[in-house]
Amino acid sequence: MTRRPYIVGNWKMHGTRAMLSEARAIDRAAQRHMKVEVAIAPPYTLIHPIHREAEQIAVGAQDCHHEDGGAHTGDISGAMVADAGASFVILGHSERRTGHGESDALVRAKAGAAFAAGLRVILCCGESAATRESGKAVAFIKRQLKASLPAADQLPADIADRLTIAYEPIWAIGTGTPATADDIAEMHGVIRALLIDLLGAEQGAEVRILYGGSVKPDNAAAIFAVSEVGGALVGGASLTADSFMGIALAASEPFDG
Ligand code: PGA
Repeated sequence: MTRRPYIVGNWKMHGTRAMLSEARAIDRAAQRHMKVEVAIAPPYTLIHPIHREAEQIAVGAQDCHHEDGGAHTGDISGAMVADAGASFVILGHSERRTGHGESDALVRAKAGAAFAAGLRVILCCGESAATRESGKAVAFIKRQLKASLPAADQLPADIADRLTIAYEPIWAIGTGTPATADDIAEMHGVIRALLIDLLGAEQGAEVRILYGGSVKPDNAAAIFAVSEVGGALVGGASLTADSFMGIALAASEPFDG
């Protein structure tokens, strides 16, 4: 089965209630692009207001704690974001790994908790510029992904529906310059092979692999044409309905992935 392209907006720490009109516009446009699965991950504070109104798009969180509840001031659990209307959570984004010191082991624990809370997970991986320059990007991504994913026997049976991988090279995030088609093809191929190794041929082939890092309406079609690209995780360009849905439109064209 070929899954629909998956276009996910990561709003990061952007958005107050003034942004609800943009979410509405994205939702309306998504109803005209049913060949594409469109979702947004706003800040926690907007999950419920967007979920309450959305008719087409899925709403997700950008992180969650690895425990269900307890004495963790300022933290939010997977069960809580699910209760607010989130159906998925982004985990292991490089801005969490570097800005909050999140280790692979912590990301793995969070993924386990998110699955247990019934959420779908978008698990991010990505190498730094220094790692790429040293020629170790492939080895790094394999190690990071393997260590960030719960062990196979801890994963839900419907893992191909519940898990999405996002490859986001750190050097391409927010820079305006995405990775080249060759770099994306190489890394997505590596990730696909690893997924098949870890999850078996059937499930491993089904999990979508998104590319993220400076995806814009004018470069999206070229990125979506790359083998094994199942959609995009979009930061800056997801903040307006016009640019975000320009990307979704590019994904509704003939699609390989
Ligand atoms: P960008 O961010 O599209 O602004 O580069 C992508 C991301 O960090 O998810």
